Amino acid sequence: MNIQPVNAITIEKAAGLLRSRKLVAFPTETVYGLGGDATSDLAVAEIFSVKGRPSFNPLIVHVSSADMAKRYVSWNASAEKLAGLFWPGPLTLILPRLPDSKISLLACAGGDTVGVRLPANATAQALLKEADIPVAAPSANRSGRVSPTSAQHVYEELGESIPLILDGGSSALGIESSVIDISGERPVLYRPGFITCEQLESALGRKIAVLDDQSGIIKKSPGLLASHYAPTLPVRLNVLSPQRDEALLAFGREFPRTAAFTLNLSAIGDMKEAAARLFASLRTLDNPDRFSAIAVMPIPNEGIGIAINDRLKRAAVK
Ligand code: TXA
Ligand code: MG
Repeated sequence: MNIQPVNAITIEKAAGLLRSRKLVAFPTETVYGLGGDATSDLAVAEIFSVKGRPSFNPLIVHVSSADMAKRYVSWNASAEKLAGLFWPGPLTLILPRLPDSKISLLACAGGDTVGVRLPANATAQALLKEADIPVAAPSANRSGRVSPTSAQHVYEELGESIPLILDGGSSALGIESSVIDISGERPVLYRPGFITCEQLESALGRKIAVLDDQSGIIKKSPGLLASHYAPTLPVRLNVLSPQRDEALLAFGREFPRTAAFTLNLSAIGDMKEAAARLFASLRTLDNPDRFSAIAVMPIPNEGIGIAINDRLKRAAVK
C-alpha cells in the first residue's frame, strides 16, 4: 500500500523520492498535488503520463520560499506585493521564466512563463524544505477529473502507479489556488480561488482582467479547458426542483426534499465550508448505479462562491 501517514521518516522518504526524480502525492491546503522534480524533464514527463494530461498544459511549480522562486522566475514589484500578502497560501503567480531557468520546459509547456506557488500546508512546506528542489505539482487526479482532497481520493485516481501518497488528512480549503498572471503589462486572473479578485485588486491597487471562456486570453492558459473536474454523471446547475432519481448537492438551510439522495455543502450557508466539501461531495454523489444526474442548487456568486461556481460550471460541461 503506497498511502503513508505523515511523519519525519515518511517526509524524508518522500523528499528522497523527489530528489531521485520519482513522483510523490502530497497534501496542500487547497488539494492534493502530484509532485515531481520541476527541473527534470523525466520527472515532469512522468507526471503528464500518470495523469494522462495533454502535454500543452503547464504545471504549477511549488517552492519552499520566495527566494527559491527568484532563482527561476523574473521577480517583479507585483510579485513582491502579492507574495508579501498572500504567501504562503493559495495563490499562484505567473511570472516570466528567467532565460537560464533550470525549470523543465515541459513544465512550462514550452512557454516563456512559470507559475510559482508557496503552499501554506505544514506537510507540503516540510517536504519542499527537505527536498530542497522546486516541485512541479498539478492536482493529483487523472486529467479532466475531480481534484482530490484526501489521500484516499488520490488512491482512487492513481492507485499504485506512484510509489508514495503522503496522507495529511482532508485539505483545509478544498479548492485550487487562485492563478494570476503578472508577467505582462496588465494582470490577468486565470483561475478564481480562495484569494478573491477584489483582494488581488486592492493589493495591486489596480483593476485585474478576468479570464472568461469567450475571450482570446484563454489561449494563454490552456489548462483552463471548458470541461474539467468532471464527474461521470451529468451535472445540472442552479436546480431548485431536482428529479426523483437525481442526487442533490444542496446549499443552505432550505432545500427541496424530492431528490433520491442529498448532500449539503453547508447547511448554515458558509462559503468556506462549501468550498472545502465541494470535490469530496461530487465524488460521493457520482454514482451512475444509483442516480441519473447530479443536481446542484444555486450558490451565491460572490467571494469564494465565484471559485465554487467556476469549478461547477466546468464540471457541468461534457
Ligand atoms: O492549488 C493548486 O494550485 C493545486 C495544488 C496542488 O497546488 N495545483 C493545481 O495544479 O491545481 P493544476 O495543474 O491542476 O492547475 C494549474 C493551473 C492550470 O489551469 C494551468 O493551465 C495553469 O494553472 N498554469 C500553470 N502554469 C501556467 C503558466 N505558466 N501559464 C499559464 N497558466 C498556467
Ligand atoms: Mg487540476
